[in-house]
Amino acid sequence: MLAGFTHEPALQLAEELIRIAPPGLSRVSYAGDGASAVEIALKMSFHYWHNMGQPQRTRFIALANAYHGETLGALAVSDLPLYRKVYGPLLFDPIVAPSPDWLDADPGETADDVARRRLAETRTILGRHAHETCAVIIEPLVQCSGGMRMHAPSYLTGLRELCDEFGVHLIADEIAVGFGRTGTLFACEQGSITPDFLCLSKGLTGGALPLSAVLTTGKVYEAFLGDYAANNAFLHSHTFSGNPIACAAALASLAIFRDEPVLERNRKLAAHLAHRLEPLRHHPHVANLRQTGWIVAFDLVREKASGTPYAGAERRGLGFYRHALSRGVLLRPLGDTVYLLPPYCIDEGDIDLMVDVAFEAINVATA
Ligand SMILES: Cc1ncc(COP(=O)(O)O)c(C=O)c1O
Repeated sequence: MLAGFTHEPALQLAEELIRIAPPGLSRVSYAGDGASAVEIALKMSFHYWHNMGQPQRTRFIALANAYHGETLGALAVSDLPLYRKVYGPLLFDPIVAPSPDWLDADPGETADDVARRRLAETRTILGRHAHETCAVIIEPLVQCSGGMRMHAPSYLTGLRELCDEFGVHLIADEIAVGFGRTGTLFACEQGSITPDFLCLSKGLTGGALPLSAVLTTGKVYEAFLGDYAANNAFLHSHTFSGNPIACAAALASLAIFRDEPVLERNRKLAAHLAHRLEPLRHHPHVANLRQTGWIVAFDLVREKASGTPYAGAERRGLGFYRHALSRGVLLRPLGDTVYLLPPYCIDEGDIDLMVDVAFEAINVATA
């Protein structure tokens, strides 16, 4: 274990993550899964302010529709009643800022316009709450479990500026979108930003073994230094934090990114997928076909023109899922939102099969 010790794979992986991450992130903490990485980021941000003599900072700003995991802290900053509601009495109350989801655009608005509008609203929230706020936590570019809701990169740039202006941390939860999902290695790159905390998991080991990491800055790290008597240290560990076998798997996966044109290949395949899905734009029961890099989603709806959804109890998404599975394709919807998140080893032939089965499943589920 990493208590008082280290090992070669943990060191090498930390160095490699620092090399490829947005500039300015120079320190790495390990955990075992996504939710525990989020816990580390939340606790470390709070503890930073505590060590800086600002213990009144006890709150977090999270976005509407956010999902950050199932442990109590991660669930507290998540906004999905399905997972959160029953545990509500156990959870701290975040300040909820509006999601910059471009599906919320008013007529004539672009994704950048929505981002600007949401940033203006968030500025007001920060004006009121910055003094008691540790950090703003977001899922950069795509809110995944919340329905594959996508936003403009300009939102990231603007939010970073706001966090700097009001002096609060920015936590980027790239657990779902990191390692190439959005078209760049990290989603933050598209807004040209460096968060104060970057949470990574899932694709870190290519999905092969459980591992997560939280990257942060030298400035945050230094706030935890000091004499033993000062008791400034960040005492957070899990038995399997930075497990050497998991770190070795992550290094092997990152070597593939280094040695092969993974992102370029994904971009070509994503374009092929987009082209094959284009006819869905005219399907009477499909709305909001959307794509960010290697994530595609659309909604099954009763009526396209008005965007009228199906009644939840009809469970159309479940019908879609079952048909696709019967044809050997795993397409797991979120309610009536269908998403395609192909593995990076997929080829054009597999994509064609996936799309053909998806079309069939849509027709079966919406009949
Ligand atoms: C954005 C995001 N954050 C955190 C998590 C939680 O990760 P884990 O399931 O490994 O705890 C997830 C999982 O889906 C996620 O999508």
